[in-house]
Amino acid sequence: MLTVMNLKAREVLDSLGRPTVEVEVAASNGEVGWAIVPSGASMGRHEAIELRDTDSRRHGGRGVRRAVENVAREIAPALRGMDLEDQAAIDAKLIALDGTPNKSRLGANAVLGASLAVARAAAVARGEELYVHLNRLWRQRLDPGESAVPTLPMPMVTMISGGQHAGAQRDFQDFLSIPVGASTYTEALEMTTALYRAVGAILKAKGLEADLVGDEGGYGPHLRTNAQAVDLLLEAVLACGWEPGRDVAIALDIAASHFHDPETGRYRLTTAGDDELDSAGMAAMLVHWANLYPIVSIEDGLAEDDWDGWVALTARLGERIQLIGDDLFTTRVERLREGIHRRAANAILIKPNQVGTLTETFDTLLLARRHGYRTIISARLGETEDPTIADLAVATAAGQIKIGSVARSERLVKYNRLLRIEERLGPDAAFVGRAALGL
Ligand code: PGA
Ligand code: ZN
Repeated sequence: MLTVMNLKAREVLDSLGRPTVEVEVAASNGEVGWAIVPSGASMGRHEAIELRDTDSRRHGGRGVRRAVENVAREIAPALRGMDLEDQAAIDAKLIALDGTPNKSRLGANAVLGASLAVARAAAVARGEELYVHLNRLWRQRLDPGESAVPTLPMPMVTMISGGQHAGAQRDFQDFLSIPVGASTYTEALEMTTALYRAVGAILKAKGLEADLVGDEGGYGPHLRTNAQAVDLLLEAVLACGWEPGRDVAIALDIAASHFHDPETGRYRLTTAGDDELDSAGMAAMLVHWANLYPIVSIEDGLAEDDWDGWVALTARLGERIQLIGDDLFTTRVERLREGIHRRAANAILIKPNQVGTLTETFDTLLLARRHGYRTIISARLGETEDPTIADLAVATAAGQIKIGSVARSERLVKYNRLLRIEERLGPDAAFVGRAALGL
């Protein structure tokens, strides 16, 4: 039996130049697996807690030395000698050791780093690709009749950023494209990079800042309205010779929690000209946009605790388009269960660091799948050279992936990893394409 021999952690930097946790796990046969934890900017209130040092003399208080220490002092001794391939037992041990509902004692960054590094160590120790190992773990969770074929995801890619992801354009966080006409992952990626270049050329031709990119690599131009971003995207689709909606569709990440005032329950838009809207007004605006544009997916169209608004929005748009809960669900089974019960949203963004272990990520994926909620594996704003989410998306046949834009290497390590997996899977590599969105 392969066992955990040791764990080591260190503070490294993410794509925003902020500290994050890297964990290495040594297997009993001497092989080593590693993981680096990402970090969000527009974080949901219900996320697991990243432990930060709050020592203002280092990294503006964002150091993670306490989390690193927790790996060495508490997690390493607790996991040593455990079966490396029994991810469920390892994660149960981590959860019990932390002892809080939101990983706030050891830190979700320490716990997730350990959990993911164990999975990679097991794959390396067996001489296997990570997605193969993750697919085996995933299969163990499924019933005998349920399909577990590794499947390449449809990418949902940021073209223009606003909100907390770029300074210049105020309200909506991301304007994304989905190459729904693609029949392979490679083709999807090629269409996306062509569109990215076309958007850049159009911005330049209009005298808008095509050189300014947001933290995820999306363009960050100063625009007068949110609608202008969609118009620019559509213009780029046409410039590529494609039909909007048939070849490339539009997706929005509104990230509405971040301009919602919980005191008054109102949404404070600054660029739409509508200034303040109540929940029904926001929903009406989104319905209007969905009627006007080839939009197939809207993420966090309403705030994280506006359940009634979500239910009403889902009743109006849920049959037609994908409504993703990110801040709404924060990858947690309890939140998703509530959403299923109330019929809020019809899809869920999956971010392992919102919940803190691989096993809990599987729990949420499984619940979503069994209730017909679509799943989108997602990166964070603060990313790293760790490509694990690419393997996770394939292993669990999640259907869709959201990594940011097609620029900056912390994004491209994941896109490129998917190219390599596609090659390994060979000519029969499964790709669900537009069906991932129910189209
Ligand atoms: P975050 O952004 O990493 O800042 O949370 C990603 C998203 O909102 O989807
Ligand atoms: Zn989001």
